[in-house]
Amino acid sequence: MTGIDQIPFVDLISPHRELRAELVQVFNTALDNAGFIGGPMVATFEHDFAAFCGTSQCVGVSSGTDALRFALMAAGVGDGDVAVTVSNTFTATAEAISQTGARSVFVDIDAGTHNMDPRKLEEYIESHCRVDRDAGYLVDRRLGRRVAAIVPVHLYGQPADMNSILEIAERYNIPVIEDACQAHGAEYYSKDSGSWKKAGSMGRAGAFSFYPGKNLGACGEGGAVTTNDNKLAEKIRMLRDHGQAQKYHHDMAGYNGRLDAIQAGILKVKLGHLSNWGAQRRHCAKRYRELLKSTAGVVLPMEPPWAKAVYHLYVVRVENRERVQQYLADAGIGTGIHYPIPLHLQKAYRSLGYKRGDFPVCEAAALEILSLPMYPGLGHEQQRRVASELGAAVSLGRTSAMAMAVGAGSY
Ligand SMILES: Cc1ncc(COP(=O)(O)O)c(C=O)c1O
Repeated sequence: MTGIDQIPFVDLISPHRELRAELVQVFNTALDNAGFIGGPMVATFEHDFAAFCGTSQCVGVSSGTDALRFALMAAGVGDGDVAVTVSNTFTATAEAISQTGARSVFVDIDAGTHNMDPRKLEEYIESHCRVDRDAGYLVDRRLGRRVAAIVPVHLYGQPADMNSILEIAERYNIPVIEDACQAHGAEYYSKDSGSWKKAGSMGRAGAFSFYPGKNLGACGEGGAVTTNDNKLAEKIRMLRDHGQAQKYHHDMAGYNGRLDAIQAGILKVKLGHLSNWGAQRRHCAKRYRELLKSTAGVVLPMEPPWAKAVYHLYVVRVENRERVQQYLADAGIGTGIHYPIPLHLQKAYRSLGYKRGDFPVCEAAALEILSLPMYPGLGHEQQRRVASELGAAVSLGRTSAMAMAVGAGSY
């Protein structure tokens, strides 16, 4: 538990303190067996994480970025292709696409969920693509490239609207690779099966990051691909290990992208707590909602009835965001911005040819989003203080804006 005066944005110390003995045991086992790469710790974690996600397969890899890259490559995405994703995401989503040789095409987000807007996906396909009947695939008319994948991101631990996205993808026979890097354990109500499905189990594959700050975080780097497609999993196993299924028989040029055994052992220990941590995050989100529901000037995250978000981040929207953030920092409250510059406006993606105004919902959100402290163990008193300081910060901004307007009117 952290104190009430200083409330960090995230607390990575407490869970490791609580699990210290079990985590140290993982190191000891690896040292005793010199089992650092592959072996039973990786296989056991993969088995358990697949079971947690409700998939038949899980392949541990070295990061979420590699998980995305390998999933895309195994699904056949490569040179000269297009993959459709969103601009409101961490840069790794687009990095992984470009690392396959493909090009990112962005579509705008939904103002409520901040995730891919299926209507914008459909609009892109219907207005900017054509079906090449001879080749049997969809082509982006302007770019002359095959549309080879759709990559929805379950950002902030909030599932994207998968029913609609999967329905569009199926219509055009395009594989869906879920970027579930922030959404371990998030659930979505699948109309198809009439049941709740975990993030990472709905598309052709799901990509997870185990970066330390994630809901399931390693003590270092790590990632995983989940899938129900055995062939895809086999290919990813080869891609992560220099293109070999059998030692020194390299059937393709692969990568060194394995999950460390020690990290797998640590992740297995933490996986036992993930459902509880997810429930705590949801409880904290409910408390924030109660505390902030009447605060004018704060837009709260919306959770559609088809979603059970796991609140990797609790993202509100406020005007004068920088001022509000500074006010909270002065009050000892840590916050974050995820993400301040949409990818289509980043220097790294200038060559894609986008400009300001191309994705108005995403651009408007980028100016207002503010991530509040959120982690299992965040206390009621701490949340009460965050809510009260946030209310004060926002009303100060509103009062000074009104004073400026009145002042301007009097001259
Ligand atoms: C949405 C998203 N995609 C991809 C990644 C990449 O994961 P990693 O940092 O493990 O490579 C992250 C991690 O920050 C992420 O948040």
